[in-house]
Amino acid sequence: MCGIVGFTGHRAAAPLLLDGLSMLEYRGYDSAGLAVRDGTAPTAVVKATGKLKNLIEKTDAGKTMPGCCGIGHTRWATHGEPNQTNAHPHISANDMDEMGSEVVGVHNGIIENYAEIKQKLLKNGYRFYSGTDTEVAIKLVDYYYRKYKIGPIDAINRMMVRVRGSYALALMFRDYPGEIYAARKDSPLVIGVTEGETFLASDVPALLQHTRDVYYIDNHQSARLLPGEAHFFDLNGDEVQLPLTHVTWNAEAAQKGGYKHFMIKEIHEQPRAVQDTLNSLIRDGRVDLSAAGLSHDQLAAIQSIQIVACGSAWHVGMAAQYVIEDLCEVPVRVELASEFRYRKRLLGPGTLVIVISQSGETADSLAALRAAKAMGVPTLAVVNVVGSSIAREADHVLYTLAGPEIAVATTKAYSAQLSTLYAFATELASVKGKLGEEKYAALIGELLSLPDKMAKTLQNKERIQWFAARHANARDIFFIGRGLDYALCLEGSLKMKEISYIHSEAYAAGELKHGTISLVENGTLIIGALTQKDVLEKTVSNMAECRARGAYLIGLAGEDSREVASFADFSIFVPETDPHFMGSLAIIPLQFLAYYTSVSKGLDVDKPRNLAKSVTVE
Ligand code: AGP
Repeated sequence: MCGIVGFTGHRAAAPLLLDGLSMLEYRGYDSAGLAVRDGTAPTAVVKATGKLKNLIEKTDAGKTMPGCCGIGHTRWATHGEPNQTNAHPHISANDMDEMGSEVVGVHNGIIENYAEIKQKLLKNGYRFYSGTDTEVAIKLVDYYYRKYKIGPIDAINRMMVRVRGSYALALMFRDYPGEIYAARKDSPLVIGVTEGETFLASDVPALLQHTRDVYYIDNHQSARLLPGEAHFFDLNGDEVQLPLTHVTWNAEAAQKGGYKHFMIKEIHEQPRAVQDTLNSLIRDGRVDLSAAGLSHDQLAAIQSIQIVACGSAWHVGMAAQYVIEDLCEVPVRVELASEFRYRKRLLGPGTLVIVISQSGETADSLAALRAAKAMGVPTLAVVNVVGSSIAREADHVLYTLAGPEIAVATTKAYSAQLSTLYAFATELASVKGKLGEEKYAALIGELLSLPDKMAKTLQNKERIQWFAARHANARDIFFIGRGLDYALCLEGSLKMKEISYIHSEAYAAGELKHGTISLVENGTLIIGALTQKDVLEKTVSNMAECRARGAYLIGLAGEDSREVASFADFSIFVPETDPHFMGSLAIIPLQFLAYYTSVSKGLDVDKPRNLAKSVTVE
């Protein structure tokens, strides 16, 4: 997620803005920039790629940018490579270096329909210097400001009516020195007002050193900020009063949005991560893979798929294998990247290699990508970091829009990857003629219902928290399931191992009697994943075999399978959706189970021992 800050008052703005951005660094970023105005002089804009210290050095800690009114930004790239040109602030002038631009602004969020708006603005004489959606939004405000000549709030409101997506925007207008304008939809934005000074930020940590009393702007509201004053407006341009909220959090808690750990915050961010990812892939009821440069002809030519990844990303591949093979009737092989890179690779004609990676920097996955490319095989990367090595080197890229993931144990990126592969499989099945229009539309409808169903699943955590505390001293935990439930078990087991340090294994339920069941003894926890109704009874039988040896049974199923409660010692139910997508809902209770077990044991949830967020070495 990007971070935005703003200040207008009677002190030098630049140093305050840099301080504010430093408090937002936890949000992850690849570039930063400032726009500062000294009285009525043209607004100065300075940007720097890389860490914030580069911008601090470039502006001599803000000393080279005099003025008491300004905005700042740290960029987490979603549209456009992470580079100087795409860094914010962006301006309404056609040339990035032009001084005295009418509108200067910074943005956190995603403008989904930026491409169509860009075409409209090009027809109206605008030229674009960057590849960002933000530049389009700012030029659109400028367009309305010049066309209707009513004022900033009017122009902003017209922009809000026209764009689709999420935004927290901070803007400065040449005709309004000393003032900052803001607008919000879905992306966070808070305003702080003290004696003679007004502050704006994406998040509370950037304001806490100045004030604990803040205004939270609501969706489709805008603001006009002057030194020591804030005025808020609704979409009609009428002034509205907002309640003042007193923040009790400290800075560290504020960076976690009031959550105790980044992991629990990111678990709760999954509906938004999946929503943003699906919105980038599905338009007007159709999956659109053109952003990855994958044409229908290229999809139709796929004869087999080789998925390569590590860890949780590999678990996504395991789930995708079942979904793609079932929907598309295309053979899929899933391989650990660390194995793929060293084995004899038999990639026949028509093979597509898909590399899945949150960081886009995992050494084994990058090496596997290079090995595939060396064989002349087309490669598709599914990654969460724009401009990462895997993203840059793959032939095609589909970005997950989960935002930066701080906790070592992945959750929202995993879910965003799953939704990306679901959409890919649905489109491939359609192109391959394996899916009629009615079934296609039904699958798309279920895909788009996932964020709401995930949000509903997130509400059911208290029972799991209670259960986790009771079983935090378990010695062994087995996750068993068949088909997609087995893929789900792989991820549930890794989550548990990673952050609670309890030995855990995931097993194809039918495999237990081939050896592992000898480990089951009195009190062993067996978690049976039962979301796939066509094999539910089979897995129940396997669970019964475990109970006969003294196991404690947990059943995890869709809410239509209430019979599970009649034999499991502890049952968890999630909302129903298409069987192919049930894993996206059932993983949430397993994430909670691992999280609360780790918390019960007093462990470092966000930074588990021995682990790194991205394994960039072999
Ligand atoms: C998952 O919780 C772990 N952090 C780990 O297994 C991770 O999924 C794996 O290292 C792959 O990382 P990547 O997605 O960045 O390539």
